[in-house]
Amino acid sequence: MQWEAFESPALLSEHAAELMLAAIRDHPRIVLGLPTGRTPIGMYERVVRECAREYHCFRDVTTFNLDEYAGVPPEHPGSYATYMKQHLFAHVDLDSSQAHLPNGMAADLDAECERYEREIRDAGGLELTFLGLGRNGHIGFNEPGSPFDARTHVVHLTESTRKANAEFFPDGNVPNHAITMGIATILESRRIVLLVAGSGKETALDRLRSGEITTDFPASALWKHGDVTVLSAV
Ligand code: GLP
Repeated sequence: MQWEAFESPALLSEHAAELMLAAIRDHPRIVLGLPTGRTPIGMYERVVRECAREYHCFRDVTTFNLDEYAGVPPEHPGSYATYMKQHLFAHVDLDSSQAHLPNGMAADLDAECERYEREIRDAGGLELTFLGLGRNGHIGFNEPGSPFDARTHVVHLTESTRKANAEFFPDGNVPNHAITMGIATILESRRIVLLVAGSGKETALDRLRSGEITTDFPASALWKHGDVTVLSAV
C-alpha cells in the first residue's frame, strides 16, 4: 500500500482529481469505479473544472458506481444517482449509457446485483476505482462482517451508517438497505485509490494502517491488493 498524507482535504482532492484525469488521458476508454459520500466531492469539483478546459475528457469513459440505496428512486434528492448527476455526470461529456449505478428500484434486487456484475465484466472489469472510507471501516456499503469474497449484493445498513447519511433524507425515511459492489468485486479493480478525509476518520485510518486484516474492518481487505494508494487528510 502506498500512503500519501495531505495538509488539507482541498489538497487531497486536487491530487485525487489529477490521478483520475491522468488515468483518463493515458487510457481514454478507461473503466472507472466511483464513490459517493462527502469525501470525493472536492475531487469531482476539480475534475469538472479541468474538463471544462479539456475537450472530450469523458467521451469514451465508462463508470460504475460502488453502491446505491434500495427503494430510493434515482430522482430522489438523497439517491446516489442524484449525487452523481449533481457532482459529475451533468457537467462532463460522459455518455449516459456508459454511466452505471445499481438500480435500487429493481423488482428483484438479487437479479439486479447479478446484472451489475455482468455489466462490469462485459465492460472489461474496473481499471481504477476510487473509494471513500466509512467511520466503521466500510468501503462502498460493505459493512463490518462482510465476507471478502462477496460480489455485488444487497446489504442491510448499520444504524451508524444510517445516522451518518440521515441528513440526505430530511423526511426521516433513511433507507435500511442498499446494493453494493462486494469486496471481491472491488479487489478485482486493477488499481484502487482510497480517499480518507473529514472528521472522525482518524481511528479508522489508524486501524487500516495497523495492517491487521479482518472482516470486522472491511477496508483491511485492501491489504490483499497489490496496487492501492491511500490519500489522507485527517
Ligand atoms: C457512504 C458511502 C461510502 C462512503 C462513506 C463515507 O456510506 N456508501 O461509499 O465512502 O459513506 O462517506 P463520507 O465521505 O461522507 O464520510
